[in-house]
Amino acid sequence: MSSDAYDAILTCRAVRHFTETPISDDDLQRILQAGRWAGSAKNVQPWHFVVVRNRARLNQLAECGRYASHLRGAALAVVLVTSPGRWVDFDAGRAAQNMMVAAWLLGIGSCIASLHDEDRARGLLGVPGDLQTHIAISFGYPLEDAPQTIEDLPREQVLAHIGRQPLERLVHWEAW
Ligand SMILES: Cc1cc2nc3c(=O)[nH]c(=O)nc-3n(C[C@H](O)[C@H](O)[C@H](O)COP(=O)(O)O)c2cc1C
Repeated sequence: MSSDAYDAILTCRAVRHFTETPISDDDLQRILQAGRWAGSAKNVQPWHFVVVRNRARLNQLAECGRYASHLRGAALAVVLVTSPGRWVDFDAGRAAQNMMVAAWLLGIGSCIASLHDEDRARGLLGVPGDLQTHIAISFGYPLEDAPQTIEDLPREQVLAHIGRQPLERLVHWEAW
């Protein structure tokens, strides 16, 4: 792996506040290709990507999640539409991470939004009832000196942890 890719993985953090700069079609293509090339269980590729750039629709999408207001200011969102299945969320996570890291390498920040009101999101986007809309991802250029808040709350109040657990706490050698 190139050191650029490794650095991108280690520095890619959630960005919830964006400038008004649009994302070019070329950059969007790169992001979507990175998602498309994610591996999935049995290579089923159980996903579609709905790109939302329309501001009114982004605002409506933000209403579908409890912590989804960052969608309002995004240059665009990619909604992951998946078929139900045992491995699908794992697969979709791989596609999401590919897109987010590819974007980060272009200087574009991103953040996941859980869509708690899935029916509303499905209706808003015209997604068939047998498919899932659990996750949207905001993309945009990071706003400098942005507040470190989530829904106007201090991050510490919403998140289980800030930063990452040390390896010593996570890694078990040979067995638990
Ligand atoms: C499955 C999943 C759902 C998430 N849902 C939301 C969300 O609804 N709103 C939000 O602001 N961030 C959401 N996030 C982003 C996490 O809060 C973020 O990945 C975590 O706090 C680490 O952020 P950091 O990389 O900036 O440290 C979600 C992340 C994942 C993996």
